[in-house]
Amino acid sequence: MLNFDDEPQSQQAEPAENQAPRPVNVDDKRVVNGTTDINQLAPFKYPWAWEYFMNANKNHWTPLDVNMAQDIHDYHHRLTAPEKHVYENVLAYLTTSDILAMRNIGLAVMEKMSAPELQIYQARQVYEEAMHTWAYQHCIETLNLDQSEIYNRYRVVPEINGKIQLANRRLDAAMRPGMNLRNADDLQEFVMSYLFFAAVFEGTWFYNGFSPIFALQRRGLMRGTGEQLQYILRDEAMHFSFGLKVVNQILEEENITLDPRAVQTMWEEAEAAEKAYAGYILRDPILGYSAEYHTEQFRFVANRRARTVGMEEPFPGAKNVSPWLDEQATMRKEKNFFETRVIEYQTGAQLEW
Ligand SMILES: [Fe+2]
Ligand SMILES: [Fe+2]
Repeated sequence: MLNFDDEPQSQQAEPAENQAPRPVNVDDKRVVNGTTDINQLAPFKYPWAWEYFMNANKNHWTPLDVNMAQDIHDYHHRLTAPEKHVYENVLAYLTTSDILAMRNIGLAVMEKMSAPELQIYQARQVYEEAMHTWAYQHCIETLNLDQSEIYNRYRVVPEINGKIQLANRRLDAAMRPGMNLRNADDLQEFVMSYLFFAAVFEGTWFYNGFSPIFALQRRGLMRGTGEQLQYILRDEAMHFSFGLKVVNQILEEENITLDPRAVQTMWEEAEAAEKAYAGYILRDPILGYSAEYHTEQFRFVANRRARTVGMEEPFPGAKNVSPWLDEQATMRKEKNFFETRVIEYQTGAQLEW
């Protein structure tokens, strides 16, 4: 009897001695557990993954492209104490979250993919997560916030820590050494972890997580930060959509059905953590935005993500209280981009040898 436990994750079919390798048959490609040559890009089995890569490269930006001058004035002279509290704590959560995202996709997810077109988009995603971290750091530096204090907040504020701990628990499952996707239990665990990452962590917590600052931006406050977050949101919208497509594909290829109770528990845990977080960052509501509003929007977005993967809505009847959030995600920024950028945009070919 074969002992699959000892087999490597991305096992590649080796030709027998003195035999030429066989050409890759596209039908043999798999999201996970494939045996085709991982270094041969085409023929594509997942042409949509290549399209995501192409589209992601149309979204190029850096945090230095955004003019932050007005934010310095707003932060020191226009924000109320509750608004500063919201602003700082959203940044404190995001800084840690995006590093977690980068590590998860780069160290836990990417290595398990066995089709290169999937890995190539994820490589771009790793880079984008790093740039998101740079964007938050750029805001923190620009406003001269106490870095030691703000970066430690996720550790000392239980309501922020709760979300990070929950994410660590769910994502660590996929980072466990020795995880073997040929084992049905490990595969289920990996799919649940990736589902959490795409649907909850990126698709809901990130997606909804920027909106308190968009609420400021809509009132003409902290517009530079708002613009940074719009670029990030545009990236994140692609990340979770890609992640959910991959999850769907694995479910289909591997003929897996997830336990609906386990999925509902995942959503309910995420809601409880989000509610506590909202209660902390918005303990005093700000103009046009409250903790209840934030949590209801979480539930509405969660229903949408669940439908994308053909699952039951976890929070039936949740209302779309901030329809403007979608506009923020899909807004074409090019015109505004040119008006607000503060440096010459470099697109390569600038190196001197
Ligand atoms: Fe990100
Ligand atoms: Fe992301």
